[in-house]
Amino acid sequence: MRRSTRAAVTAVGHFLPETRLTNQDLTQMVDTTDEWIKSRTGIEERRILKGESMGVSYMASRAAQEILKKRGMTADEIDVIIVATVTADMSFPATACLVQAEIGATNAWGFDLSAACSGFLFALNTGAGFIESGRAEKVLVIGSDKMSSITDYTDRKTCVLFGDAAAAVLLEPDSQGYGLMDSVLRVDGKGWEALCMLGGGSLHPPTHETVDQKMHYIHQDGKTVFRIAVKGMADVAVELMERNDLTGDDIRYLVPHQANQRIIDAVARRMDLDPQRVMLNISRYGNTTAATIPLCLHDWEEQLKRGDNLVIAAFGGGYTWGATYLRWGYDYAVSPS
Ligand code: UT7
Repeated sequence: MRRSTRAAVTAVGHFLPETRLTNQDLTQMVDTTDEWIKSRTGIEERRILKGESMGVSYMASRAAQEILKKRGMTADEIDVIIVATVTADMSFPATACLVQAEIGATNAWGFDLSAACSGFLFALNTGAGFIESGRAEKVLVIGSDKMSSITDYTDRKTCVLFGDAAAAVLLEPDSQGYGLMDSVLRVDGKGWEALCMLGGGSLHPPTHETVDQKMHYIHQDGKTVFRIAVKGMADVAVELMERNDLTGDDIRYLVPHQANQRIIDAVARRMDLDPQRVMLNISRYGNTTAATIPLCLHDWEEQLKRGDNLVIAAFGGGYTWGATYLRWGYDYAVSPS
């Protein structure tokens, strides 16, 4: 698709809670081992947000504030705030409203977007639409999840996987050939039961019974999701590469959702990518749901150069999945113009 104005990423921000939950800590809580967790998932530790009055908006606001500082702009310049999350502070109001108030984005509107582990990818594409259409000049896209708030720390099948974090990007118009180039995005609601949180919504409002039955925690059929995630992520990434005439050598980095290192390795192999060209930080943070992808961009920001071709790929509950081809818009040392 040809577009005169594209949505380019012009800054990245993040927030990581200080508390670390290591594999060793988890061996004291459930029947597991450091060896099992590392070999099956690649995770060594995750961050946990502790403290009262600390929800997803707390982390999201701090990621946003880092962006304002780096970009040298004030909050009143922001037009739209999109927060991807499945662990909003409350069912309503939207986390985006709480972030808007916290950072003082007096001219912004915004909303939350729920697409589980594909949340950031879908929010990035939604935000890009506002830029491409000319309806906004500065869109803040935040992925923030406090997975510890919906994790059952007596269930070894899920509690070893998740962590808390927020990260964000700023989208601005670009007419020089950088930014979001193309995307393949999908949902398949038939798979919803394999990865969900049953309680707390309108179908199963909270009751003593829903609490007793542990319906307010993540439920995952790991094996099923693993199989479908590998195929889903690889299929859309390869489709995106083919229709944009990209080979493995043309891609500077794959930016994958960090759910399991074995899934990421399999997707990279299908894309014919050298492992050096894969952003991988799951060992340090675990699966932070909507935050994994912008957290990778943050961790690799200093190495990225203007014109680098990135393929972002995600798979999550819903099912939701997709891949986006992003041409990076700035060198870290040089402030984006
Ligand atoms: O981010 C959104 C999308 N989510 C994903 O992409 C996650 C996809 N799934 C996965 O990453 C993997 O399926 C898991 C990491 C969740 C599980 O790995 P697995 O290799 O598929 O293990 P499994 O569930 O088949 O379990 C194998 C064995 C079982 O024991 P038995 O029945 O064979 O005796 C489990 O009970 O490993 C056992 N097990 C554990 N053992 C030690 C499960 N969890 C643990 C644990 N420690 N933490």
